[in-house]
Amino acid sequence: MKLIEDPLAIKELKIARAITVLTGAGISAESGIPTFRGEEGLWKELSPEELASFEAFYKNTAVVTEWYQHRRDILYHSKPNAGHYALRELQQLASKFDLITQNVDGLHQRAGSMDVIELHGNILENYCINCNQRFSQEEFDEIYRHNPNHIPHCYCGGLIRPNVVWFGEALPEESIEKAYDSAITCDVFISVGTSAQVVPASNLPRIAKQNGAYLIEINTANTAISDIVDLRLEGPSGTILPMFIEDYKQLIKKNN
Ligand code: OAD
Repeated sequence: MKLIEDPLAIKELKIARAITVLTGAGISAESGIPTFRGEEGLWKELSPEELASFEAFYKNTAVVTEWYQHRRDILYHSKPNAGHYALRELQQLASKFDLITQNVDGLHQRAGSMDVIELHGNILENYCINCNQRFSQEEFDEIYRHNPNHIPHCYCGGLIRPNVVWFGEALPEESIEKAYDSAITCDVFISVGTSAQVVPASNLPRIAKQNGAYLIEINTANTAISDIVDLRLEGPSGTILPMFIEDYKQLIKKNN
């Protein structure tokens, strides 16, 4: 069954040289990783201010650290889904392709995607807030295991935190610059599984559209950008993305 039937979408995809994809928590939902917003989202039960801010970490290091270890446990029992693999395939098919993610789970990389632009960091990396020493997850786990208070300290005495962007913090400069550049220069921008509510990531689809890109959204529900997109493909990304790739392959084959 064909997914893309809209004549303008067909034309835009056929001539597109550069495709940029932005992903959010929704793409990992089918891997068993909870999203943040919505009925089953983490922020329904938990308060972001109490868990995802530097103040929270400084005041309540053990609680915040345990929450991250719990999320890592979920991740260890998860694997990439068909949506992640479809994006890896799209990278191989498109002339120019950028994958920007707000996710910290590393599942795109595990599916084989390369040069992923991580806007919000990676949950399996850690660093000391005092001397900036980096700790792999294995090194961190070792320190955590030997610490009965669940407050991990660096050799210098500083606290060790996850390498993720918390509320109120700036995004990694290089990543956001690359992301803006990609949004400005792409021909087609696809927003997948994000509620598009958190800036600056949520500005990217808008910037892409303002700069002439054809904007596609893949999501199970309406989002903050649904009104401005050129094409909405509603449904789970693990189903929609593989269908999209099949259609895209046919379109570019006819092009040659
Ligand atoms: P949200 O939890 O805000 O949104 C998840 C989106 O995924 C929603 O629009 C859902 O409708 C959609 N969705 C759920 N299941 C899906 C599926 N199987 N297929 C496709 N779509 C699906 O997550 P994000 O937009 O990623 O920030 O949230 C952005 C940021 O807010 C996160 O990176 C995190 C959070 O606070 C930080 O940690 C800094």
